[in-house]
Amino acid sequence: MTETIGRSQTRARAQDAALRQRARAVIPGGMYGHMSANALPPQYPQFYQRSLGSHVWDVDGNEYVDLMCSFGPMILGYKHPGVEAAAAAQHADGDTQAGPAACMVEAAELLVGRVAHADWAMFAKNGTDATTTCLTIARAATGRAKVLAAAGAYHGAAPWCTLRMDGVTPEDRANLIYYTFNDIASVRRAMDQAGGDAAAVIVSPFKHDAGFDEELVDPGFARELRALCDRAGAALIMDEVRTGFRLHDGGSWEPIGVAPDLSAWSKAIGNGYPVAAVLGSASYSEAASRIFVTGSFWFQAVPMAAAVATITAIREEGAVPAMQRTGTMLQDGIERQAAEAGVQISLTGPPAMPNLRFAGDDNLARAKTFCGTVAEHGVLVHPRHNWFLSAAHTDADIERALDATWQGFRAVRQQFGEG
Ligand SMILES: Cc1ncc(COP(=O)(O)O)c(C=O)c1O
Repeated sequence: MTETIGRSQTRARAQDAALRQRARAVIPGGMYGHMSANALPPQYPQFYQRSLGSHVWDVDGNEYVDLMCSFGPMILGYKHPGVEAAAAAQHADGDTQAGPAACMVEAAELLVGRVAHADWAMFAKNGTDATTTCLTIARAATGRAKVLAAAGAYHGAAPWCTLRMDGVTPEDRANLIYYTFNDIASVRRAMDQAGGDAAAVIVSPFKHDAGFDEELVDPGFARELRALCDRAGAALIMDEVRTGFRLHDGGSWEPIGVAPDLSAWSKAIGNGYPVAAVLGSASYSEAASRIFVTGSFWFQAVPMAAAVATITAIREEGAVPAMQRTGTMLQDGIERQAAEAGVQISLTGPPAMPNLRFAGDDNLARAKTFCGTVAEHGVLVHPRHNWFLSAAHTDADIERALDATWQGFRAVRQQFGEG
């Protein structure tokens, strides 16, 4: 599985090129959304054929160590045996049916047991479903309209939160007021601006806006945010979509002792199976039961069975400490290599979700040279978005990744010189 990586450069691309050409004729822009390879360096494939453990193969048969984990959903490894067995067993019984299966209740019980603030759970498909539902519940509970959100934070692709304004009206954003992450004075100002009409403050466990350094939360900020929401009678909503179960096997702010009222989850909770969850505390249960949210596929049983197996395995198999360890190995190696190559970087974020930026790289030219070279050497990382570790990444994967990143630093040094 690993023999050719690190040496075989100039990889085959004919199948990928042919599919891209066909796609351009029938898919707007050839591809859309976060999975579009259009803005990535040419060494990246657009189309993949298969995946196993921490590895993926593109349609030309090239193999990669996947440090993007499908942008987060893969946390235990592709085709994790326990998750696949649970999904297959449920699939044999039924998936989309006349109503939900028993595993929906099991998944809710498991999440309520795992996440300290949660007294109940609802399920959906995508992260945007979950964040949007949190806002709806907060508004139903408070009878208020305004929501405070950190400027630049990503909470999904619905008109109220998408990062691009094409097709979005000012009315879609009329009830949002922005604050600055980790700056409590800015939240106070936003709260004043809401003038008693604040339904909620939405916050990510740490700042992970694409294209910027990551910023861990200041525990003092988190505590003051909780107190401010309590004084204002607004819900504190935690967006755990990207972070969920990667930093902690409960809620991400549990180690600092701050509990949200509502939280939104997706990505890793089904190890790749499509499932999202909204968790809430008892005082929001009545409002949650009043709103009407649903979807044709929100009650699918297979993803819920996969979620039960995933969440169970995350704790039983020590996934969080495993990602912490391999992520630290990767971060340490990258810091050493950058210093040795004489290339200035900022490597930020928790080890399980690192983010690499190059000094003076506003147009991402260095990041693209680096990531393109790394992809050519059989490792997938991203020039603008944080990377993801999984419990399936082995020491050998990290060593391979570091062989590739060393080539990446050499290419940056060669093209842009020192600094
Ligand atoms: C923090 C955060 N919130 C919400 C979302 C939206 O999730 P989805 O793309 O599943 O709708 C994402 C997706 O990347 C995310 O990272």
